[in-house]
Amino acid sequence: MSDDLRVNTIAVDGPAASGKSTAGQLVARELGYLFFDTGVMYRAITLAALEAGVSVFDELGCTKLAEETQIDVQPPSIEDGRLNDILIDGVDKTWDIRTPEVDANVSEVSTYAGVRSALTAQQRKIGVRGRVIMVGRDIGTVVMPDAILKIYLDASAEERAGRRHHERIERGEESDFEQVLSIVQKRDQIDSSREVAPLCAAEDAVVINSDQMSIEEVFEAIMQLVREAGLA
Ligand code: DC
Repeated sequence: MSDDLRVNTIAVDGPAASGKSTAGQLVARELGYLFFDTGVMYRAITLAALEAGVSVFDELGCTKLAEETQIDVQPPSIEDGRLNDILIDGVDKTWDIRTPEVDANVSEVSTYAGVRSALTAQQRKIGVRGRVIMVGRDIGTVVMPDAILKIYLDASAEERAGRRHHERIERGEESDFEQVLSIVQKRDQIDSSREVAPLCAAEDAVVINSDQMSIEEVFEAIMQLVREAGLA
């Protein structure tokens, strides 16, 4: 496909806590693009399963939930550090989808083909409108293979666990670094080895390793690629 037929969607993929959302949000604001964190949808279905007493190992049950649950992402209604309001069947669950329990179970739920096809279809509808930065694991490879710019943001597991640990402490929550690290490593393993849409960089993605970079430096590196792609 020639470049001029490509959708002006920016795909940002990478492992858990690699800084995709923070950097993606900043770039979206700079460009006036919509920011769409697709991980929120997998988290919402995981929380819905936990609350409904559906086992996260019940593929059919989780798929049914993915097909029937209404997930809405809206502008933030409260100033408490949230990027968006996340509503599940109309109820505000913005922070409930970020608990260690959801963290520990979301990778399992996102291995299911039925869950992925229900959520991918919804994501694509938003992606093809263009002027959107989509953040996830399979945006460049599966959801939006025609994205005009694909970035794969990487960092070591220790660095990523440290960032998530500090975010929790800053929100006033309890956090244990070793526990966060072990969940990050387990999620990496499941996300990268699942059969459907595993976490990997698209062939035409630009890989950025953010281990030694501040968030401002990651933002600048992405903006440089945005300019080179003619988007700014
Ligand atoms: O980015 P995150 O930590 O909020 O993502 C939560 C989980 O959702 C992650 O473990 C894998 C899954 N996910 C996915 O499989 N595909 C996506 N496009 C986004 C997230």
